[in-house]
Amino acid sequence: MQNKFTWPSHEMRLGPSTFLNFSKHFCADFNFIRTGRPSSAPCPSFSAAMSAVPTQNDVVSGQTESTQKTQQPLQVAKRLEKFKTTIFTQMSNLAIKHGAINLGQGFPNFDGPEFVKEAAIQAVIDGKNQYARGYGVPDLNNAIAERFKKDTGFVVDPEKEITVTSGCTEAIAATMLGLINPGDEVILFAPFYDSYEATLSMAGAKVKGITLRPPDFAVPIDELRSTISKNTRAILLNSPHNPTGKMFTREELDVIASLCIENDVLVFSDEVYDKLAFEMDHISPASLPGMYERTVTMNSLGKTFSLTGWKIGWAIAPPHLTWGVRQAHSYLTFATSTPMQWAAAIALRAPDSYYVELKRDYQAKKAILVEGLKSVGFKVYPSSGTYFVVVDHTPFGLENDVAFCEYLIKEVGVVAIPTSVFYLNPEDGKNLVRFTFCKDEGTLRAAVDRMKEKLRR
Ligand SMILES: Cc1ncc(COP(=O)(O)O)c(C=O)c1O
Repeated sequence: MQNKFTWPSHEMRLGPSTFLNFSKHFCADFNFIRTGRPSSAPCPSFSAAMSAVPTQNDVVSGQTESTQKTQQPLQVAKRLEKFKTTIFTQMSNLAIKHGAINLGQGFPNFDGPEFVKEAAIQAVIDGKNQYARGYGVPDLNNAIAERFKKDTGFVVDPEKEITVTSGCTEAIAATMLGLINPGDEVILFAPFYDSYEATLSMAGAKVKGITLRPPDFAVPIDELRSTISKNTRAILLNSPHNPTGKMFTREELDVIASLCIENDVLVFSDEVYDKLAFEMDHISPASLPGMYERTVTMNSLGKTFSLTGWKIGWAIAPPHLTWGVRQAHSYLTFATSTPMQWAAAIALRAPDSYYVELKRDYQAKKAILVEGLKSVGFKVYPSSGTYFVVVDHTPFGLENDVAFCEYLIKEVGVVAIPTSVFYLNPEDGKNLVRFTFCKDEGTLRAAVDRMKEKLRR
């Protein structure tokens, strides 16, 4: 049985009520990541920090020592048993415990725009509170189609080619479950967002990983070519890319597109960071010649409008692919929050100035973090998009990414995310950690100051 850490599907599953068993799993599972063998030995450096974190049994029973009940072993279906405790939650809990500044989780520490929040309040007051139409409130489907036309030039039918989902996370799940058969091969580029592997596992797919390597995380085209087989059903793309900030170049996308057409392979394209494309223009794979008919484009409101808790997402695909996505969506959630959909339609029709300002703000934040990290002594890899930046931590002499993040939280008071869990082979990520700059400038500066003061080579 494979045993590894994974990220939560949503990087924002936070809060004191979501404590899980980090103390038991973190060190044991990390040992497995590194050695291929699980270990029951406690991790000395973390055991002290963990003493106040509830154990797995506390979670199961929901009890503390004062109200004991029979404790049952944890149960999970085989298709999900390798996906362990959510490390973002654990990191955030550690951040709270150590008073660390959280540059780990990818959600803003500032609020979304007033005009969108007001639209949601108005929708609630106006009584838009019952089940929405399954594939989306008509006005939102229209707004998504308008935005897609503006972004790609493609005219899509809002009634037949757009499905509104509960965040991009549900778009991903509905796409995998609706279009993948057990045994189908799906190619992922590692490092990758955690929900891809988990939902592919639920769909019974065989995951084929191709590792993107620093400094530019370029696509190894020959490896891709030789990985595609007659069983390959789809390639999953994510550009701008979490965690590296890489944006797939036009040349890379052209080659991928021609391989897909040649081999009759679908593309599932996760574009949640499309409006955070800083160094080059975002290209939707669906807009490349011959690709629309074989692409599902997935996106959401959360990153662009700093409203990650709203969970409004969508999938755009030609009718023959939308059919499968909708079949899965119908039985996953059926419909998503009605008033938020009405407000999302208003959001998507924001003037161009909104997007310009968003990028400008993020570029200022990025400059603070990137310059700060360089001055601390990290090797910072170029990030073209998203609100993440990946660095090489090895100048500081820690054994690997998890050991470095442990040190950073406890001794420096800053949270970063170890990247090894984003890989099929965790060794590939052991030198890299990810920081986010979706925080206010004061927070970013304070984190840099702490690192300057306390991190020693
Ligand atoms: C690459 C990527 N895809 C999808 C999501 C999830 O999006 P949503 O919050 O809309 O479900 C995230 C969130 O962090 C992400 O980083």
